[in-house]
Formats: sequence, structure tokens, C-alpha cells
Amino acid sequence: MKIVSQKGHLTLALPEFGMPLIIDQFAEVATSATGSLNTLSRAGRINGMDIAVPAAVFLPSGGMGHFGWPAIQGHRQGRQFVFQPSNWTTVESGKVVTLSASDPGAGVGVRLTFERLTGPVRRTRVEVSNLAEDDYTLDRCMAGSLLIKGGAEWIEAMGDGWGREFHVHRLVPSRGVWLQESRRGRTSHDRYPALVARDRHGSVYAAHLGWSGNHVFALDQIDDGQHLLHAGELFEPGEMILASGETYVSPWFYIVSAGSVDDVSAAMRQTVRAHVLPKLNGPTKPRPVLLNTWEGNYFAHDINRLKAQANRAADLGIERFVLDDGWFGKRDDDTSSLGDWFIDTRKYPDGLEPLISHVTGLGMEFGLWFEPEMVNPNSELYRQHPDWVLQIEGKPLLLSRNQLVLDLTRLDVCDYLFDAVGALLGRHAISFVKWDMNRDLTHAGDRLGRAATSRQTRAFYALVDRLRAAFPDVEIESCASGGGRADYGVLERTHRIWTSDCTDPLERVSIQAGAMRFLPPEIMGCHISASPNHQTRRPHSLAFRAIVAFFGHLGVELDPTALSPSEFDELKQWIDLHKSLRHLLHHADASCFHTEMGDGRHVFGVGLGGHVIASIIQTDQPRAEQPCPVPIPLAIARDAEVEVRMIGPGSPPFVRAAPAQLELLSGGIVSSGLLASHGLPIPQLYPQSAILLELKQREAGNG
Ligand code: GLA
Repeated sequence: MKIVSQKGHLTLALPEFGMPLIIDQFAEVATSATGSLNTLSRAGRINGMDIAVPAAVFLPSGGMGHFGWPAIQGHRQGRQFVFQPSNWTTVESGKVVTLSASDPGAGVGVRLTFERLTGPVRRTRVEVSNLAEDDYTLDRCMAGSLLIKGGAEWIEAMGDGWGREFHVHRLVPSRGVWLQESRRGRTSHDRYPALVARDRHGSVYAAHLGWSGNHVFALDQIDDGQHLLHAGELFEPGEMILASGETYVSPWFYIVSAGSVDDVSAAMRQTVRAHVLPKLNGPTKPRPVLLNTWEGNYFAHDINRLKAQANRAADLGIERFVLDDGWFGKRDDDTSSLGDWFIDTRKYPDGLEPLISHVTGLGMEFGLWFEPEMVNPNSELYRQHPDWVLQIEGKPLLLSRNQLVLDLTRLDVCDYLFDAVGALLGRHAISFVKWDMNRDLTHAGDRLGRAATSRQTRAFYALVDRLRAAFPDVEIESCASGGGRADYGVLERTHRIWTSDCTDPLERVSIQAGAMRFLPPEIMGCHISASPNHQTRRPHSLAFRAIVAFFGHLGVELDPTALSPSEFDELKQWIDLHKSLRHLLHHADASCFHTEMGDGRHVFGVGLGGHVIASIIQTDQPRAEQPCPVPIPLAIARDAEVEVRMIGPGSPPFVRAAPAQLELLSGGIVSSGLLASHGLPIPQLYPQSAILLELKQREAGNG
């Protein structure tokens, strides 16, 4: 077998027939060590195949002695149902290796791309081409495979549902195949397209599919007992038919392997920063603190009230004012007007300009909410174009949040949306768009009655790309009833996500901890909302709400004119503190950590160059007689002196604190070695409270 290896990158063996055998997806293996593979791969049970059938295959295409879950499958009207490429050729260019082969019998060509990204992160993509005259039906085409060496001891999947995105669930794989299929036509709240796994030797892996449509994650225990994880798009029946000469291009599949969950997460976050997020025109500016009008107004837009809120927002030091749902058509609730992207003159008799110039006159940016892909049956647009929605002839049009989905595979629909959104962006000083998507796709049939989820997802990407090309300075937030569209595919073209509709800080702790496994905190919208919380009715102190939101892209989502003078002062102090530290919190090289202490406490931290900001968050009633010391793992040399200080307004929520503890937290000095190995002795906190700490390495000779 020919060996393909790239320095520090990848080692594969290319068989004469069939898909590549994985030797190492993260390292180059010396050729002398791979010479014996021909012999090794022949071992099998006594009545097994007489030919060598490797088990750990990259995208096994099924059949021909491979009994695992096929990652690529297709056929020509039922014939040529096995695809077995041969004549592999390799092209290496910089950090990219491309392998190509074809199966002349099946009339199919395949191209695999392996790209090396930040540190140990890799991504792969697959292209399948129809080289024959007649149609080729691609039933399944995963974007890549990840070998979990020796087999997975556990895997962790993420998501529960609306308001509980990114919750982590640990599972122990049993024999056979573990499948996660998402059929909601968006990233989804319940099945995030990512997985973390640990193998039997202790290595940890993370995998992510950069795709906002339907997906499959399949963990297959292969014939040699190891696990192969495959991920890719999920096609509806007959969805992917390639005409002669057509090529299917898969989304990117991101993989990483390292020593711990923290390490794989850190590598993924750095990859998002360096390779996924779109670059804005000009230098990256700090993430502006924003006011979102949703929870403070809902659909009741009153321009004078909004102007008064903008005044208070500016006084608070807020830098961006985002006008949420309710400004267009005749939208007084969620039953009408999606699609009618013209300003509601009942609410805004002189259009949006008076509000926008008021906001920008206060020195803030202006942002606007849209939900371009949707239409309410009760709208001008639907009355004019009932045929513009995704539908299946003869099947009922099922509503969700009273709305239907526009068929973006139609050019006229996309042109309408580009013109409608573009007209507003072109006419006004709008710096930010909150792009929402509030329903799942349920009957995604196009004009010809064919399944269209894949093409709809690509058309959504193309529409965003087209608007971004026309308005390159506008930042976009990806929202889908919270964090329902938050994968690396959408993040290639948007700048932040609305992490969850649930703004209750207690709920947000686990949501944000899960999200931070794959996303850097600065792109996660984290808002301070009213108390009691609108989703859960739980009351929380302002300090708890502010500290939980502190590390993300900070926002405020309440009516600032309703704050008492003391709440206003305290909120302003939290915002000032965030702004004074965000150069560190959101620095491209900053490292983040999250530790669940197992005693009702969570520790979040960000550090860079001997400067750490950490929050200690007590969610439940403390479980132990006394809280164990908190290790602070970050960015500080082990033999340095470190100054510790509790920061932020408000009185500390300690149940009981020894004078020495209080002294330590008000500028006391500890050695970094002690900090890392023993930890900080933090006084016991009341449940649902938190403190914020700043730790600074002291300059040599200082003090
Ligand atoms: C979704 C979003 C919210 C808000 C509403 C407006 O639920 O997630 O933040 O924008 O829509 O209808």
C-alpha cells in the first residue's frame, strides 16, 4: 500500500482499490514504521475474508468485505450500488493534502481534502462527482471520518432543546452504531453537530460539522473493536441526485485530538478565531456592549419610549442599540407580517430614521432584527406569492410560530429578500443585523416537489454572502430562537450567535459552559436581563446576572428606564468593568477555562500573559462542609507572585468568610505554584451567587 503522509499532519495508506486506510490523522508516522502494514492489515478471524479488508477506513464506501457503517453510498437507478475508487493521486500544497481517485465502473470520482489548521485541529471535506452520462443518486456522503483509537470509552453530545442549548450529555457507546440525526433543517437546539470523546488510552477528541442543515453523526464500532466517527449532511430520500458532470461538495468536518477536554476545546476555539469567523473590513474592534430591545419592549414599539431607553443606554456606557422584532409590517404579535420588510408607519410615522439618528447621535451603533427566511400566511408577501414557500403538494402546510419557510432555492425569492434587506441597510446607518430563524424545516419541498433542505441551507449561505459582499461593514448575529443555528458553517459568515433565548443566569451557566467547548466566548451573546427572569420567573441579584454574562459578548436586555438609581449605578459599574477588561477577555490569544468543581460551583476564567479574570459561580446549595480551594490553571508562570483581588460592585455574597480569606481577596499575594496546585481558598458562597476575581502576576522586583 502506498503511504501518504504530511509532516506533523496525517498518515494514510492508499489501497489499490477502496478508500484510504487511517494510520494517524494527527501525525506523520515514519515510513519505516508503516512498511509492515500490508501484513498487519491481513489479520482476521478464521472464517473471515480471504483478502485484506482494513477496518479503520476513511469514509468506508460499503460492501467489498467492509461490514461497518458505510459513509458514502449511491447508485444509478439501483445499479452500481458499490463505489470502490482506485488510482489514487496525491497533491500536497502548504497545509492542504488532496487525494483523488475514481471508480470507472460506477462512473464516480472522489476528491478528499485534508487541511491542517490551528495546532492539532484538522478539517476534511469530500467532493463526489458524477463522471457518467446518466444521473447518479448520492444517498449518503459524510464529510469525514475520525478514528477513535482503541475505541471510545465515552462520548459527549450536546443539546436538550429550546432554552437548554449546549447541555452536555455523556454516553457510553455500546456495540453497534450510535447515531445522532438532526432533521430540523438548522443546527438545532437539541442535537448540536459536534461531539467530544475519550479513547481507552486517555486521549480526548473533538469533532464538529460546519453545517447549518440536517446532519448525521455516526459512531461505528468497526471490526477491530475501535470506533470510527463519521459526520456529514443527512439527505432526504432522493435529495442529492447528481446530473452528469455535477459534483457534490460536503461541508467541512473539523477534528482535533489532545490530552484533555480543556485542550481540545482550546484548540477548537482558536480555530474558530483564526479560520472560521469572517474578517471584517479594517482592524478588529472591541465587541461593543449592546442593548437589545426584545425583553424590554417585545412588540410594543413606541418611538418616544425607545428614544428614552436609548438615552439611558448611552448613559450606561452601552455602545450599540439593537431594535428587535416588531418594527415592520403590522407586527403587533407573532401572528403576522414576516416577509413584509417595510417600516410600520403606525409605530414609526417618519420611518426609522428619527430613531436611528437619535441613537447614532448618542454615539451608539444601530442594529436591526430581521427574519428573512420566513413568512407569515398573514402577510402581504404571502398573499401575493403563496407559491414562494417550501411545501409538498397535497400535504398540509404546517405552521410553527405561525410561520412558513420561504423557498430560497428560487432566485426570485432571494432577489426579493436581498432587495428588501439591502434597501434598509443601504438607506440607513445600520451597523448590525440580528438574523433570526424561528422555526424548523418540516416540509422542505421545492417547486418540483423535491426535497430541498440541503439546497435551502446553501441558498441561505449564498444570501448572507451576497448581503455581506454588498455591505461588508455590517456585522451579523446568527440567531434561531436562541442558539439554534450556531455551527461553524454559519459562523464562516456571521460574527456572533445569540446563545440562548433563556437569559436566566442559572440556566446560562451550563449553556455557556457547553457552548464554550466549541465557541470562543466573545462570539456568544450574553445579556443581563430583568429580574425576575422572563423565561423562568426566578429572581437574581444584578451581580449574579452580570458575572455570568461577563465573559461573553456583553449585552443588556431590559428596559433601562425601569432601573432604580442604585441598579443603574451598579449596572454601569459592571459595564465599565467589562469594557476595561475586554481587551483581555476577547483577545485573540487569550485562553479560557471552565471547571465544574463538583460541589455546586463553576469556575470560568480567561487569561493572557500573567493576567487572569475568573468567576466563581455557586449554582446550588454548597455540598460540602467547607468549599475546597479553587485551582486557577492559567497563563501564569509557576514561580511568580500573584496578586489576587475581588473586583466588581456590590457586597460579596459570602455565607461566612475568615478575615484571612477577605484579606487575600483584597489584594493579597500568593505564589503561582500554590495557586495552580493547591488553589485559592474562596469563602463559601450563597447559592445562585457569584464573585469575580482578577489575578495579576507581579513584575519581578515589584513589592
Ligand atoms: C426569537 C429570538 C429572540 C427575539 C424573538 C423576536 O425568539 O431568539 O431573541 O428576537 O425571536 O420575535
